[in-house]
Amino acid sequence: MKKFIENLPKAELHLHIEGSFEPELMFKIAQRNQISIPYKSVEEIEEAYKFNCLQDFLDIYYQGAGVLTTEQDFYDLTYSYLQKCAQQNVRHTEIMFDPQTHTERGIAFETVINGISKACEDAEENLKVSSLLIMSYLRHLSEKEAFKTLEQSLPFKDKIAAVGLDSSEKGNPPSKFKNVYEASVKEGYIPVAHAGEEGPAQYVWEALDILGIKRIDHGNNALDDETLVNEIIKRDIALTVCPLSNTALQVIDDLHNHPLKKMMDLGLKVTVNSDDPAYFGGQVNKNYIEIQQALNLSKAELYQLAKNSFQYSLLNDTKKQQYLTELEVYYNTNK
Ligand code: HPA
Ligand code: ZN
Repeated sequence: MKKFIENLPKAELHLHIEGSFEPELMFKIAQRNQISIPYKSVEEIEEAYKFNCLQDFLDIYYQGAGVLTTEQDFYDLTYSYLQKCAQQNVRHTEIMFDPQTHTERGIAFETVINGISKACEDAEENLKVSSLLIMSYLRHLSEKEAFKTLEQSLPFKDKIAAVGLDSSEKGNPPSKFKNVYEASVKEGYIPVAHAGEEGPAQYVWEALDILGIKRIDHGNNALDDETLVNEIIKRDIALTVCPLSNTALQVIDDLHNHPLKKMMDLGLKVTVNSDDPAYFGGQVNKNYIEIQQALNLSKAELYQLAKNSFQYSLLNDTKKQQYLTELEVYYNTNK
């Protein structure tokens, strides 16, 4: 099973680039920029990465991202993640980035987007990993701030496929961002959003009906509402599920109780993703391996998960079909 998963062609659809920031690279960049971080060793970092909830994690995640300063820093961060994709047979990835985490500190939008997108271009060429970018608005900030970010992004529109919504969910419902999503869609961005990770099923309804999202990040709490589940299935909208994130943030107490298989059995289109791999104990393959073991998933179910990852990506149909064919050949020779 482990080998089957490792070699399985797959896409990752839920990944925060700032959450892929491994301690070693963080130390290196902090030193390069002469910025001090509150950890002396990798061991101290590991001790700090024990979270009780989303907010605990976010406080540390924003602090870590605070050492990223130059275009080269964003390039190195992104290229390092894309190298891990290549090693894991992640053939395509949709990378979220949080411009406001950086522009609030005085880093230019241009520095962030140029570093990230240059790494994506080089990886497509050198590593044969394709990628699309999702610009995420921080939901703890105001809609006005999000509008400012939308404005800043417009000169770089050709580099960005979609808009997302992340950060502290409770108390920051999707409806708070109704107008900026409407404006983002008018500019050609595809709307997605985190919903139902810590927030209630009602937030998933809002993300669907008010923001018009095409994909739900997490979505776990949608299961509390049967009508909502049926609506998600009817609209053919996928959930980007993140098993190790869910246990790290105590959204789920134990992987054995993870609802991923139940979601699949209900007919929901589910994908497996790492979310913030440097903080939650594993890259995407580890997420596949651990959830397979916890829920005793079959090869056919793993194939379905990988198939969903391409099918519900934001790629055009031609590209999707190429990857789906590659996956089908793999499955038929390894099942
Ligand atoms: N949830 C919300 N916001 C985030 C996350 C997450 O899992 N990771 C990075 N920002
Ligand atoms: Zn996330």
